[in-house]
Amino acid sequence: MYTISTLISEEKLVARIKEMGAQISRDYEGKSVHLICILKGGAYFMTELSKYITVPVTIDFMQVTSYGSGTTSSGIVKIVKDHDEPLEGREVIVVEDIIDTGYTLSYLLEMLKDRKPASLKLAAMLNKPDRRIREVKIDYCGFDVPDKFVIGYGLDYDQKYRNLPYIGVVEGLD
Ligand code: IMP
Ligand code: MG
Repeated sequence: MYTISTLISEEKLVARIKEMGAQISRDYEGKSVHLICILKGGAYFMTELSKYITVPVTIDFMQVTSYGSGTTSSGIVKIVKDHDEPLEGREVIVVEDIIDTGYTLSYLLEMLKDRKPASLKLAAMLNKPDRRIREVKIDYCGFDVPDKFVIGYGLDYDQKYRNLPYIGVVEGLD
């Protein structure tokens, strides 16, 4: 059995996402931003973040799997769904739920760079720095979290709990 406790409340999370939206709006003043949400986990974060960006926003989606067992990834990344619109010449921000080992995003950012965006940045709701294996530059980071398995606001445990409006920690996992 396991239990779930609150790590970041809905109020704190949304307040921070608003700040991130305001920062992006300042950084891209006079331009447009193209957000690429990494499914499924990034969906809640991207919809919330996009509400607080005041420059013109377009959105797209990608889905990747990173093979691994249980709760950790392995470095082998497969594109399940590619983005629909071309990236060339656009100000792209990849929007991801959490950077853990860094395998997924280091691979993905290298791949997207080859598609010639005008700029390419990364917004991550959460960062788990203690687990990093591949270096990844996070341009917009919501919160650092400890090396624990977290859920909610898009993040799942066995596909469940994505709909929690806060970030919780799963305790008692074996
Ligand atoms: P990375 O490739 O190890 O950086 O992490 C890739 C993916 O693993 C993230 O996008 C999440 O989908 C998932 N992940 C990593 N840590 C957690 C966690 O604590 N809870 C839920 N999913 C996680
Ligand atoms: Mg993910």
